[in-house]
Amino acid sequence: MSSKDSVGGTLKVALLLCVVCSIFISSAAVILRPLQEANKLLDRNKNILAAAGMYDPAVTPEEEVVELFAQFTPRIVDLDAGEFLTETKLSSLGIDPTTYDQRSVQTEPEFSDALSGDEDIAGLKRRVRYATVYIVRDDSDAILDIVLPISGYGLWGTMYGYLALEGDGNTVKGIGYYDQKETPGLGGEVTNPRWKALWPGKEVYDESGDVALSVVKGGGQGIHQVDGLSGASLTSRGVDNMIEFWMGPMGFGPFLKNLTNN
Ligand SMILES: Cc1cc2nc3c(=O)[nH]c(=O)nc-3n(C[C@H](O)[C@H](O)[C@H](O)COP(=O)(O)O)c2cc1C
Repeated sequence: MSSKDSVGGTLKVALLLCVVCSIFISSAAVILRPLQEANKLLDRNKNILAAAGMYDPAVTPEEEVVELFAQFTPRIVDLDAGEFLTETKLSSLGIDPTTYDQRSVQTEPEFSDALSGDEDIAGLKRRVRYATVYIVRDDSDAILDIVLPISGYGLWGTMYGYLALEGDGNTVKGIGYYDQKETPGLGGEVTNPRWKALWPGKEVYDESGDVALSVVKGGGQGIHQVDGLSGASLTSRGVDNMIEFWMGPMGFGPFLKNLTNN
């Protein structure tokens, strides 16, 4: 029997194969990481543009995404103060508005606070202190679009999306979910363009400044109402709850009031 057919020889070959494969896999992971990060960022930017009605995968060329997104300025909002974080505060917190990912700090005590049962209408458990908003201004510095991240529990898990408002901080431009676990054909219809088309033009706040926008089964005629998803009352309630939370005093309510009063 030749040595390569012995048990020792077989083990040596197997070990060598393992080492070569693991080097190959870990190198691929390291080399591809920047590409993955860039794709993640591109995908996020597409979702922000789509919520604002500026991107449609069926018609917008991929090359235009960078140029279109360049119109948006990411700013970090201190949700309690309802104001943008200053440069000094941003650097003391180590936050870069272009890369800050509020989902990744959602459970970190120095970046988020636990919500009490009464406060937690969107089923988030914790609320981040700082949130990224994306703003488009015209040449005279007037605000044209404000895109706000929203999240909340549906039926099967937390749904993540964006709500885009016009410069008045009240009129809806669009909504889009980019990460959700609802059942396709039922709650998953939150991503259906026909349902999303019900949102533009609706208004978030009533005359006294309270959140009035709601998702109503069989409703949708009023300026503050959007028809619920059929056969998916629980997901619809999840959307309704997260609008109430994120547009209200615990969410972007104070920020939107400050922004539009200035
Ligand atoms: C397999 C399965 C998946 C479901 N997925 C969802 C869902 O994603 N969202 C939802 O609201 N309801 C879902 N439902 C239905 C709910 O259990 C519930 O019946 C429904 O929300 C009631 O809505 P309706 O009052 O509009 O009929 C699902 C039901 C089944 C059996």
